[in-house]
This record gives sequence, structure tokens and C-alpha cells, in this order.
Amino acid sequence: MATSSSNIDLSGPTFCVLTGASQGIGREISVELSKCVGPNSVMVLLARNLSGLADTAALCESPKVKVVYKSIDLAKATASEMYDILKDALEGHDIDEFSNYIIFHNVGSIGDLSIESGCMENIEEMKQYYTLNVFNVIALNTQFLKLFKDVEDRIIIVNITSLCAIKPMSGMAYYCSGKAAREMYFRVLAEEKKHIKILNYSPGPVETSMIDYVIDQAVNTNLKDVFISFKSQGILLKPEETAKKCMRVLLSGKFSPAQHFDYYDEE
Ligand SMILES: NC(=O)c1ccc[n+]([C@@H]2O[C@H](COP(=O)([O-])OP(=O)(O)OC[C@H]3O[C@@H](n4cnc5c(N)ncnc54)[C@H](OP(=O)(O)O)[C@@H]3O)[C@@H](O)[C@H]2O)c1
Repeated sequence: MATSSSNIDLSGPTFCVLTGASQGIGREISVELSKCVGPNSVMVLLARNLSGLADTAALCESPKVKVVYKSIDLAKATASEMYDILKDALEGHDIDEFSNYIIFHNVGSIGDLSIESGCMENIEEMKQYYTLNVFNVIALNTQFLKLFKDVEDRIIIVNITSLCAIKPMSGMAYYCSGKAAREMYFRVLAEEKKHIKILNYSPGPVETSMIDYVIDQAVNTNLKDVFISFKSQGILLKPEETAKKCMRVLLSGKFSPAQHFDYYDEE
């Protein structure tokens, strides 16, 4: 697979969508992105927690960037609700007036950590998990492609993935299988749409509420111990460190279509 070597230039007006923007990695990616985009850019921040979104918006707003945010449960949203949110954010703008159209699929959850892989049988719970982490990521991406079909060659997609998408981890069957499916969808899309830049960015182990959730909830002792040692040894990354690297990798353009690029990979 050829690696693209041309830089990505976001210095023009850019239309941006970020999911899971109310806290953690999503907030810091939003902040870094807001610094890179040019005048007359629009950012759309999505998550459930409105006050978290408002805090992120305040960090991103500037004379060159208009920020809109919307509380939405992406486990329940319909495709048409997603489409309407994107369309509403464009109000007052022509669809083709932006130099770039970028979407960060950052939303994510860990899933049920109380169950071993060999005992999974609660289909409803699995459906809920995959709806948020896989099905609705794909559905939102499709709404984005639909809305901007006439300017498709200016679309950039970043999927926030994980080492767990390519490496099995005991006790995390929901998370690993969801991340693997999601990453593969973007790899297939990249095969089909070679003119769209797609990056699968894996942020490394990052100090967010997700890590605390694993430590609190994991019944698999190996999994719990790994995350406790990450935390106690101070090897967890700060969200801003990985967000900066994500933006550097993206702007460099030095990744092959839908490449799984990890925080620890050489730039
Ligand atoms: N932390 C790590 O070590 C690590 C490592 C590898 C990959 N990742 C990935 O990085 C991404 C961000 O994770 P994070 O560590 O920053 O976790 P986090 O702090 O838990 O953030 C998750 C984000 O997703 C949003 N979200 C969760 N459920 C939602 C729902 N039903 N509807 C809408 N939004 C929802 C949350 O917002 P609301 O609660 O406001 O809805 C929040 O903004 C995830 O995809 C995760 O898998 C994290």
C-alpha cells in the first residue's frame, strides 16, 4: 500500500465534526484541531453531556472558528437525526464553500467487563454495544458522505481506534471485537474511495475515565492488573499528548489509506 507523502492543509475554511467531544481524548483533539483550521471554519461537537460539550466549545471558539455543539445519544440516534444535525450546522453556508470536510469518529465505550468471552450470550447487550461503537459510527459516516457527496475529494476521515483492534486482550471481547470491526469498515471504505483520506489513529494508553472504568469494572484479574500498573507506573499518556500526535500525523499526510497508526509508531 502506497504511503501518501503530501501534507494535509487545513489552513482554509474547514467543516469539522467530532464525536465524543465532551471530555477525554475527544476534547483535546477538538482543541488541537481548532488551532489548525483556517478562518470561517465550523466545528460540530457531539456527545451526551451538554456541559462537557460547552466546556470543549469554549476552548475551541475563536474569531476564525464557529463552534456548534449538540447533545445526542449516539447509541440511540437514527440516521435521519444524524443527517439533520450535520445539515443544521451548515445553515448560512453553501455546501461547497469549505476547503476540507473532516470527521473524527472518537466516540467509544468499553462494554461489559464482567463477562468472560466464552460466556457471552446477552444478544441485547451486544446489540447496544455494537450500535454505539460500530453500527452508528458507520451510519454517521454515511450521513457525512451523503451530505458532502459533491465535494467528496475534500473529505478527510479519522477513526480513533485502539491497539485492541489488532491485538486480542483477555477480558475485553466487546471492546476488541468492536474496534476491529470498526477499523475494518474504514479499511474497506478506503479501498473503495481512494480519493478520500482516511486514518485509523490508535492513541496509546491515555489517562481518561475509560481507564478508571476498566480498573473499577474488570473481573479479569490480568486486565485489571495491567491497567493498575499503567496507572501506578505513570506510563499513561495525557490526552493532550496523544491529540497533538494525532494532528501531527494527520497533517503530515504520511500514512497509507486507512493505516492503523499508533501513538508509539515513528512519524
Ligand atoms: N483512553 C485510552 O487509553 C484509549 C486507548 C485507545 C483508544 N481509545 C479510544 O479513544 C476514544 C476516546 O476515549 P476516551 O479515553 O477519551 O474515553 P472517555 O473519556 O470515556 O470519552 C468517551 C467519549 O464518548 C462519548 N460517548 C460515550 N457514550 C456515548 C453515547 N452513547 N452517545 C454519545 N457520546 C457518547 C462520551 O461523552 P458523553 O458521556 O458526554 O456522551 C465521551 O465524550 C474512544 O474511541 C476509545 O476507545 C482510548
